[in-house]
Amino acid sequence: MDSNGPDSWLTEAGFDRPPQVDLRTDRAHSARIYDYLLGGKTNFPADREVGDRLLGHVPGARAGARAARSVMHRMVRRLAEEHGVRQFLDVGTGIPTAPNLHEIVQAVDPACRVVYVDNDPIVLAHSRALLSSAPEGRTAYVEGDLREPERFLSDPAVAATLDLNAPIALTLINIVHFLSDEAAHPPVSKLVDALPPGSFLALTAGTSDHAPEGAADGARSYADAGIELHARSRAEVERFFVGLELDEPGVVLINRWHPELGEGQGRPDGEVSVYGGVGRKP
Ligand SMILES: C[S@@+](CC[C@H](N)C(=O)[O-])C[C@H]1O[C@@H](n2cnc3c(N)ncnc32)[C@H](O)[C@@H]1O
Repeated sequence: MDSNGPDSWLTEAGFDRPPQVDLRTDRAHSARIYDYLLGGKTNFPADREVGDRLLGHVPGARAGARAARSVMHRMVRRLAEEHGVRQFLDVGTGIPTAPNLHEIVQAVDPACRVVYVDNDPIVLAHSRALLSSAPEGRTAYVEGDLREPERFLSDPAVAATLDLNAPIALTLINIVHFLSDEAAHPPVSKLVDALPPGSFLALTAGTSDHAPEGAADGARSYADAGIELHARSRAEVERFFVGLELDEPGVVLINRWHPELGEGQGRPDGEVSVYGGVGRKP
């Protein structure tokens, strides 16, 4: 089937509503490659081609994507249960994949509030699944780019959903590796600066520390499709947490981040290749 025609947009990818913008399904997109690796249906031949090339170099990429998704579950559950956070700002949300962030935290407290932000129009086209808040809480979806935090922070949906004077967890899960240090650090600092004391940053980022060849080949698969990937060492990932108090156990490979809290444990380090951590703003 030709998945690039407008009719197949609606059938193969199963949109909530017809997209108002050209989704450029002829080009690979990071959200859709990730969806393919996770076994989702919201992807197209161009995305699957990059995904298959990546799997050729990194056979554990599917397990790695699942591990990356499950650490988000553990991080936000711990933030809600142990740290009492009730508000979340998730930038680089990705195509909805159950359970979504609000479903995890609203299982702890239905009054939790979540703002989702992504810059890929396909995520907007599927955003209805992100808006299924428990009646006691609230969720919103804002189209925005991590590189322009002022723009999405000033969206009225943010102030309507989050109390900017109460602690908020900023979640940047598997997004900063699409940006260089020069591009990623200024907006992440601006976002953390905008949050009140007692807020948190939860961040994961790809590394080549444990499987350098696979990571280099994987990055080439993305680069061939025009998508930048920047692997970071542990010290480079720790730089995102400067000025914050790191939650236990610090910045570690994500399979080692509180594995007792759920799925995702038991993966060999080389299969995961993503660091993650949580820090509290004093
Ligand atoms: C690999 S997916 C991760 C999805 C989700 N956070 C997770 O871990 O399951 C990366 C997401 O970040 C989004 N993204 C990439 N660069 C972005 C940017 N500069 N601003 C906003 N979103 C971005 C992509 O569209 C994609 O949905």
